[in-house]
Amino acid sequence: MSEIEFPAESSDKDVSPATASGYLDPQYWDKRFCSEEHYEWFKDYSHFRHLIQQHVQISSSVLELGCGNSQLCEELYRDGITEVTCIDLSAVAVEKMKQRLAAKGYNEVKVLEADMLDLPFTNQSFDVVIEKGTMDVLFVDCGDPWNPNPETVTKVTAMLQNVHRVLKPDGIFISITFGQPHFRRPFFSAPEFTWSVEWRTFGETFHYFVYVLKKGNRSEESGSCIQKPSFAPIRLLHEELESEDYLFRTNLDDME
Ligand SMILES: C[S@@+](CC[C@H](N)C(=O)[O-])C[C@H]1O[C@@H](n2cnc3c(N)ncnc32)[C@H](O)[C@@H]1O
Repeated sequence: MSEIEFPAESSDKDVSPATASGYLDPQYWDKRFCSEEHYEWFKDYSHFRHLIQQHVQISSSVLELGCGNSQLCEELYRDGITEVTCIDLSAVAVEKMKQRLAAKGYNEVKVLEADMLDLPFTNQSFDVVIEKGTMDVLFVDCGDPWNPNPETVTKVTAMLQNVHRVLKPDGIFISITFGQPHFRRPFFSAPEFTWSVEWRTFGETFHYFVYVLKKGNRSEESGSCIQKPSFAPIRLLHEELESEDYLFRTNLDDME
């Protein structure tokens, strides 16, 4: 039985941290999830389902990183993908997700408290690893996005090494983010990884990215050398991100 007590939901409360680096504090997420029942970072499943459907089979074992209080795992389940494991660093998120799934009878979905930088799974356990907005948390205090600080590089690398490790030899990592290719590819294309890197976008005014990394599919010419684009970066603020609850501000320069 859980020892966590959840206060009644108060949806009109401002749940943002005082500064962006607050998103790195596990206590911030616990506190937030105590009072928030559902928040979908970026967009819900209906907006990117067509982009991931071909990569996730009904028989796929799927690991979702940082499920929060998103409905992504439920949507996958409703699409017939029942072998889903969700993890989150927040004990509150995990407990509430367990309760929500149990109430709906989605009993096959497993939910665990775990750190994506140190995944508690054996090598080659999953066909698909998926994350939406969770990797972005590691970038909130990255400094110059062209030259992220060493702590960010260490954490992102640890996360990707864990993802690569737990994927089956032909497994697929799906990352849904607003991180543009010139900031993500240097990480995804590090020489130690055997996956290929492709991406698609979705969204209207603001574009989100769906990266699809296929393990064991890296081509000879894949490299980590990324050119800076020649156009000036645009700095978008909170209210421009289609009402996103986001202090994940960075140089966003790929509007179309
Ligand atoms: C921006 S929210 C995204 C939530 C959800 N994926 C969505 O799409 O709405 C980030 C989530 O990642 C979780 N998180 C942050 N750091 C984590 C870590 N190191 N390992 C696992 N989960 C983490 C937070 O608790 C939070 O639930």
